[in-house]
Amino acid sequence: MLDQSIGYVNKPIPVGLDLVKEINRLRKEKNAIILAHYYQTGDIQDVADFVGDSLALAQWAAKTTADIIVLSGVHFMGETAKILCPDKKVLIPDLNAGCSLADSCPADAFEAFVKAHPGYTVISYVNTSAAVKAVTDVVVTSTNARQIVESFPQDAKLIFGPDKNLGNYINSITGRDMLLWDGACHVHEKFSLEKILELKKQYPDAEIIAHPECKQPIIQISDFVGSTAALLKHTMTSGAKRFIVATESGVIHEMQKKSPEKEFIPAPPNDSTCACNECSFMRLNTMAKLYNCLRYEQPEVTVPDEIREKAVKPILRMLELSARLGL
Ligand code: 13P
Ligand code: SF4
Repeated sequence: MLDQSIGYVNKPIPVGLDLVKEINRLRKEKNAIILAHYYQTGDIQDVADFVGDSLALAQWAAKTTADIIVLSGVHFMGETAKILCPDKKVLIPDLNAGCSLADSCPADAFEAFVKAHPGYTVISYVNTSAAVKAVTDVVVTSTNARQIVESFPQDAKLIFGPDKNLGNYINSITGRDMLLWDGACHVHEKFSLEKILELKKQYPDAEIIAHPECKQPIIQISDFVGSTAALLKHTMTSGAKRFIVATESGVIHEMQKKSPEKEFIPAPPNDSTCACNECSFMRLNTMAKLYNCLRYEQPEVTVPDEIREKAVKPILRMLELSARLGL
């Protein structure tokens, strides 16, 4: 059923089929759960059982009693769910939904970097392949990176990979000097400082809010920096009525739902006339692919046992530390 050459089940959807109704029926029939990231399109977020950031998706996967997990997000999120739940079927609507940040850290090169620095503790962002996690001491997400780094002594020798922007940001707010891998996310790296400043001139009352995967100049002009979940929470509690949002624009769907009276302006990228910034990998997932994936139970995310056995340790360590920190 799965067309390996395209990475998803390409069965035509019957004309007039109510996809939401069918997805609801199949999910119940198969005891499946749909977990979606905030960067998914609004229709997918609305049909999901749970929408969250990378940490929340891992936490949710770890505790579900469902037989099937459909992870509507990108591949490393599916891998994390599979590593935590080896006995469950973990599906992803499109196997080609990768991540430029994870791709910027090939496992063999990262392992050589780690070996070249004996005595260092290795902290890896969750946006990495299972093979990178297998040579990691503790995984972090943008929600818990600061607190987990701070849980190590001030003078601890730490390697942080793969996002140099997040690493630089954590170094700057914690006073650490972690060794950084030279990786980045193509979506967050391309926000235009000039265009954001122009928007701020046009809307001086707007708060600029940014994800820590953005480059330093964007972080420096931002009123608030945080993970997608933290940005969402901030828009709900801040007194501001308008926000310039420097992260993938899918998150605005939930922001608008939670605060219908507020205005959300996507921060523009520097390379196009398009006003917003979308992750092409995240956007590979569609309602039709989600339906077919649930119906035919493909494509499935798999992780070789020998990698899973190593990769599960730093993920569980992250979940334990997060629980202890109340995150
Ligand atoms: P969070 O979900 O941790 O905010 O990270 C965003 C991201 O880049 C996911 O790919
Ligand atoms: Fe990866 Fe960037 Fe897309 Fe997130 S937004 S999935 S970090 S490429």
